[in-house]
Amino acid sequence: MKAADSQHDPFVRALLRWYARSHRPMPWRAEPGTVAPPYHVLVSETMLQQTQIATVVAYFHRFMQALPTLGDLAAADEQQVLRLWQGLGYYRRARHLHAAAKTIVADHAGSIPPTAAALATLPGVGRYTAGAVASMAFAECTPLVDGNVARVLSRVLNLHDPIDTTPGKKRLWAEADALVQSAVAARMRHRRRNFKAGDWNQALMELGATICTPRQPACEGCPVRAHCQAHARGLTAELPVISKRTKQRPVVHHIFALEYNGKLLFQQNGETGLWANMWQMPTVETLPPAPPTAAQKPPDLKSLAASLAVKTGRPTHLNSFVHLTTHKRIRCEFWRVRCTASPTAAASDDAAPPFTWRHPEDVDDLPLPQPQLRALALLPTGTPPLAR
Ligand code: ADE
Repeated sequence: MKAADSQHDPFVRALLRWYARSHRPMPWRAEPGTVAPPYHVLVSETMLQQTQIATVVAYFHRFMQALPTLGDLAAADEQQVLRLWQGLGYYRRARHLHAAAKTIVADHAGSIPPTAAALATLPGVGRYTAGAVASMAFAECTPLVDGNVARVLSRVLNLHDPIDTTPGKKRLWAEADALVQSAVAARMRHRRRNFKAGDWNQALMELGATICTPRQPACEGCPVRAHCQAHARGLTAELPVISKRTKQRPVVHHIFALEYNGKLLFQQNGETGLWANMWQMPTVETLPPAPPTAAQKPPDLKSLAASLAVKTGRPTHLNSFVHLTTHKRIRCEFWRVRCTASPTAAASDDAAPPFTWRHPEDVDDLPLPQPQLRALALLPTGTPPLAR
């Protein structure tokens, strides 16, 4: 069944009533009936892709304090943007956001475009973010679909096309579009002229985040249970249908704390890859050993040491931990290696990037990926770990 105009009025009304009463306050969120500052929506919605709201709040405040306007972001140094993002992961989002701000200043006179179509032309702004900014900051009657919306719509409308396939996505966007139009039309009929499309979009997401959850949804407390086709048919656990779950490839990252004169060597990554332009202790990726050869064994350090122009002693194993990304299951093996001979100019104290020697407590200006921060935190304390 397709979401049609007034047919969905009861569902729309029930969800909006619940949202007006129960929405969680968020620093970037406008009260129902009003719009939020476009820059706040652009930054928060970019942060919220792949990251929990509870985590984003502190990052959002810090980001706004450091870069309060879009112009500030456009003029900022990329290293500062990456530092503000440090710990949120998915750093490509930060670089895209930065590039989008520069494009807005260069091509849109510094004003964030007000339509989803124009927003979607900006670097890194996908259909979801475009819909979020246009509907929440400019009240454009335009839909959005994220994981929460996909789940809610699959259940309420009993949709069985896998949500990660082209036909499934097409259907979801069509239904979301029909529903946002229904919501705006219904509010107009009821003379609720201050109603904004962004309220509807956020109500759907809020329901998905707090009640219509992936596992064990709280159907008993659901404000739209009476309108949910999956609930009526006992199908909530089967929906949404997902055809292929991304499998995370297992790899090992050997992270080397190369130590010389109490300092550690950090290298800057290149322009591409998961942690592009960020800094790290030298890291070597290998395939995991097949069991039962699971014992930690450092890879041959010779070529790494040669490429870094340092002479190394024997590595000591400090710790292991696992870091998950969308595509990889990374087992991190953390090694400490004393450099036994002075590094050559390429890696010396005052070397220009991409190398720097730092005391482990003096890395605040270096954007470091999460596993590197975790490794640094695991350096033994008490005995001065890095003194020679
Ligand atoms: N998830 C991402 N953005 C959201 C928003 N504005 N409201 C609720 N959940 C969200």
